[in-house]
Amino acid sequence: MNGPVLSLDVADTGDREEFRRAVVAGLSATPRAIPAKFLYDARGSALFDEICDLPEYYLTRTETKILEQHAGEIGERAGPGCALVEFGSGSSVKSRLLIEALPDLALYAPIDISREHLEATAARLRRDYPGLRVEPVCADFMGPVPPIEHAARRVGFFPGSTIGNLEPAQATAFLRNARQLVGDDGALVLGVDLKKDPQVLHEAYNDSAGVTAAFTLNLLRRMNRELHATFDLAGFAHEAFYNPAEGRIEIYFRSLRNQSVTVAGRRFDFVEGERVHTEYSYKYDEAGIGALARSGGFRIAESWTDPSRLFAVVYLEAAG
Ligand code: AVI
Repeated sequence: MNGPVLSLDVADTGDREEFRRAVVAGLSATPRAIPAKFLYDARGSALFDEICDLPEYYLTRTETKILEQHAGEIGERAGPGCALVEFGSGSSVKSRLLIEALPDLALYAPIDISREHLEATAARLRRDYPGLRVEPVCADFMGPVPPIEHAARRVGFFPGSTIGNLEPAQATAFLRNARQLVGDDGALVLGVDLKKDPQVLHEAYNDSAGVTAAFTLNLLRRMNRELHATFDLAGFAHEAFYNPAEGRIEIYFRSLRNQSVTVAGRRFDFVEGERVHTEYSYKYDEAGIGALARSGGFRIAESWTDPSRLFAVVYLEAAG
């Protein structure tokens, strides 16, 4: 049976209007950009799941391995009876590793903007862990989240290098928010993709099967479907490259010719080669993770990586 979903006024009916406004503003701006969160409609989420299984996309399997190896140590640090708060209710493979490793886990609270996703995740976990209290929270974790009442330690979980999709100021804002939520004796388990050979990074975002390209171009399909847009998918291409000065992958869709497109009743002209930004994916080194943690009110208590140093899982404790 489904339990309650705490809500912070995320109106499903407002989703399309929010999308329309963001797209019109983003295509009217210079340079053009559309926020990455709109990549994740149902098809986009399914394509992202496919990306996670690609041979070139080392992030997911590397992080999972690190978590499998060190979940026991994470459990020791967290201590008994804590509450696990997940930012974004992920595909739950990784959440399960922690749910099973945290001793006498009292509560699991996934926070997600998608009510549908949350309810499905919560139902599966209640079925598989009948003794576990599961209290989903429907909210945008970048904004205010209702307090999660729990007497013992609250441990946040933000896996997948999703922090990398935030620009540095947003990443700091996220950490401050998380710090407030977990409180003075709280902690945060964070998955971070590391800086490495740019070729490895390039391939991870330009896979040979074209799934990442389909993921980017799905945004055009979504605009066609939801905003009556007239994008010709053959007239645009996915573009992703590593920018070493900024330490980030940058992703765009690029116009292959001069063309005009109607979106939500407005006309937008594209010249050949013009790009629309869709994502950043920041990569960190150890010093960068430390600085980021401090900016959000945390300190690194422990950090684990894989033998090739591709990815890091860090245990952050609230700093005084
Ligand atoms: C969700 N996020 C961590 C992915 C990343 O690697 O930045 C999104 C992604 N975009 C294209 N490939 C993967």
